[in-house]
This record gives sequence, structure tokens and C-alpha cells, in this order.
Amino acid sequence: MKPITILYGTETGNAEDCSEELSEELENDGFANRVVDMEEYDCSELPTEDFVVVVTSTHGDGDPPENATEFLTHLTEERPSLSGVGFAVCGFGDTSYRYFCQTGKDFDKMFEELGADRKIERVDCDDPPEAEFEQFAQSLKDYLQSQTGK
Ligand SMILES: Cc1cc2nc3c(=O)[nH]c(=O)nc-3n(C[C@H](O)[C@H](O)[C@H](O)COP(=O)(O)O)c2cc1C
Repeated sequence: MKPITILYGTETGNAEDCSEELSEELENDGFANRVVDMEEYDCSELPTEDFVVVVTSTHGDGDPPENATEFLTHLTEERPSLSGVGFAVCGFGDTSYRYFCQTGKDFDKMFEELGADRKIERVDCDDPPEAEFEQFAQSLKDYLQSQTGK
């Protein structure tokens, strides 16, 4: 299996910090991975990935963080086939907003529409995200361990 790619979309750093923590936990459990800022990700690599983890907040009024905009637009407009790509999404948001965790929901739906294979259910984290994110990380590790016996 190729290294897992963790893509984060963030405005104020929560999704980035949690992605870095997840990366360390996965590394410690023997799962090679890399963490990439969505705006620095080479989208042409996406169809060749084995497993992509999306961790993204929502800003504005249900809008993607700025560093996620181009990537989401790429998926929407180019519609690459993601058949054979496994994925999992964790959204960060705040239930006091009308469109709770909308960007996570948008990515989750888009990956599915493009033919990628959802390996675990999306988790939508309310502020502060740490506790719910830990549940997401645990489900992800459980899934990976069930596949590899690590
Ligand atoms: C100006 C602003 C707008 C926001 N808009 C939304 C929103 O529409 N929906 C939502 O669920 N959360 C919204 N949030 C909450 C953030 O997504 C949440 O605080 C998240 O943890 C931030 O993560 P980040 O630091 O990775 O950007 C908003 C926060 C701010 C400051």
C-alpha cells in the first residue's frame, strides 16, 4: 500500500494541528503517511492514491477554507475518476453555524460521486474538535489494523 495522504483544509490551524497529530499516531502504528496542505497538493496524483484522509474545517457561511477552495473546485469541474481510491473525511465546524461542517460534507459527497471508496463514516466535529477527532482517528486506525493485521 502507498503511504496514506492526509490533506488538510484550514483557516485558523485546528485541522492542520490535528492532521499532524494523526500523522504521528499512524506513523507510530506503522502506517506510512504524509500530511499535505490542500493548496500545495498536486491534484494529478489523486487518482493514483491508495488512501486519502481529508480533514477540513468550514468557514464563512458554509464555505471552504481558503486553502481548500482550489482543490474542491478542481474536483467539481474536472471530475477525475477516483475509482480504486479509498477515503475518509473528518469535518471541523461549530453547531452554532447554519451550515455545520458543510465543507467536510461537500468533500465526502464529491469523493463518493467520483467513484472513491469510503472506508469509514465521516465524523463531524463540533468546536473544540479534539475529542471527536480522536474518535475519528481511532476508527481510522481500527480500520487500517483490520486490513493489515498491524
Ligand atoms: C468566521 C468563521 C466562520 C465559520 N463558519 C462556519 C460554518 O459556516 N460552519 C461551521 O460548521 N463552522 C464554521 N466555523 C467554525 C470553524 O469551522 C471551527 O472553529 C473550526 O474548528 C476551525 O478549524 P480551522 O482552525 O482548521 O479552520 C466558522 C468559524 C469562523 C471563525
